[in-house]
Amino acid sequence: MTGQIQTEIRKIGDYVDQSVSLRGWLYNIRSSGKIKFLQIRDGTGLIQAVAARKDMGEDEFEKLSGLTRESSLEITGTVRKDSRAPGGHELLVTACNIYHVAEEYPISPKEHGADFLLGYRHLWLRAPRQHAIMKVRNEVIRATRDFFDSRGFLNIDAPIFTPNPCEETSTLFETDYFGTKAFLTQSGQLYMEAAALAYGKVYCFGPTFRAEKSKTRRHLTEFWMIEPEVAYIDFDGVIDLAEEYVAYLVERTLENCSEALDRLERDKTPLEAVTLPFIRKSYTEVVEELQSAGSKIEWGSDLGAEDETIITRMYDKPLSVHRYPREVKAFYMQPDPENSTLALGVDILAPEGYGEIVGGGQRMDDYDTLHQAIIEQELPLEAFDWYLDLRKYGSVPHGGFGLGVERTVGWLCGIRHIREAIPFPRTITRLKP
Ligand code: 4AD
Ligand code: MG
Repeated sequence: MTGQIQTEIRKIGDYVDQSVSLRGWLYNIRSSGKIKFLQIRDGTGLIQAVAARKDMGEDEFEKLSGLTRESSLEITGTVRKDSRAPGGHELLVTACNIYHVAEEYPISPKEHGADFLLGYRHLWLRAPRQHAIMKVRNEVIRATRDFFDSRGFLNIDAPIFTPNPCEETSTLFETDYFGTKAFLTQSGQLYMEAAALAYGKVYCFGPTFRAEKSKTRRHLTEFWMIEPEVAYIDFDGVIDLAEEYVAYLVERTLENCSEALDRLERDKTPLEAVTLPFIRKSYTEVVEELQSAGSKIEWGSDLGAEDETIITRMYDKPLSVHRYPREVKAFYMQPDPENSTLALGVDILAPEGYGEIVGGGQRMDDYDTLHQAIIEQELPLEAFDWYLDLRKYGSVPHGGFGLGVERTVGWLCGIRHIREAIPFPRTITRLKP
């Protein structure tokens, strides 16, 4: 096949009426007499290829008989514009080269249970719907880089092994590190604080780990977080930054993932409503609204998943909830100077019942206050000496937040359970594949 144009499905529109070759996998095949309709995917798109005995000749056409779903093949044909075809083009097949005839594929087009599909996650990823979710995830990550790059942030990687708890100690994954105790990181935040005092504006993007012992649709044991941290920022500045970032992620997804959202049957209207300004309410106001809506929540306890669902269904924009009681937030949060029982923490709750996607706030910048908080929370003081150093050498007001990639992608895609928002999910009951 010398001189033959090799291309990808995404570029097929450049070759109308020309002969091209594509390499991919058979997504579906159906026959109607002397014609076969093949749906082929190559990772860049899906195309229908029409194979007719009379165009291909007997020998080439015969190669297609017995082909099964997910068989791998190279197909050559003429590109034809067809407005009725998905993607707007189809291929009139002239020749084919079969790489591998697949065994009977375990995932059939019929409905399967979640456990079955997760067990075959290595194959399930090939489904067009999963492909669409991965495209949105990819766009979220690209948009993140663009957002922080364009604002002069430096990307700094945080370590995975750490001696420090950062969030709830009950969710730490502990491991032996050559005879001493180490944890898999719960958050890169503490390291970003060091980096912010070194470089001003930084962010990390990496995997984080929490031994979440309950099965919920919002929790993974391994998830990816984006964590910016800024020196000389105040609490309102942290909320502004987080809201601008979330609005930008939505804008970019609508701009560049329209097809993927259509494939997911995601209603775009609620996403289009996500423009600045978002709604801001204090924890206290939210508790009062929840109580009026019939929730049993009492002031002082954290917003549960139920409460977040109720409150976010009441508004069509993300809701930034600020100033939580100090007891429900992490040790490092700066107390509110106007009411020391409150913490300058903020969560952004995504609308449509999705709930928390961002958590962050202002950090304690005074040595004594932080030292005291570490002792009160019975955290291992010796592991925090370096973190306390940051309050000894040029301490400044600073803050930041973490955005959970899977929670965000789940919301953008309109999927109920976040396990589909990560290629290979890890939950309390799943380590394989
Ligand atoms: O609210 P969290 O626990 O905040 C922190 O870890 C801070 N140290 C971040 C910071 O200020 N730099 O987690 C932040 C976000 C949550 O809002 C949620 O989106 C996500 O991380 N998240 C999870 N996502 C999936 N599975 C889990 N088990 C998650 N726990 C938190
Ligand atoms: Mg949180």
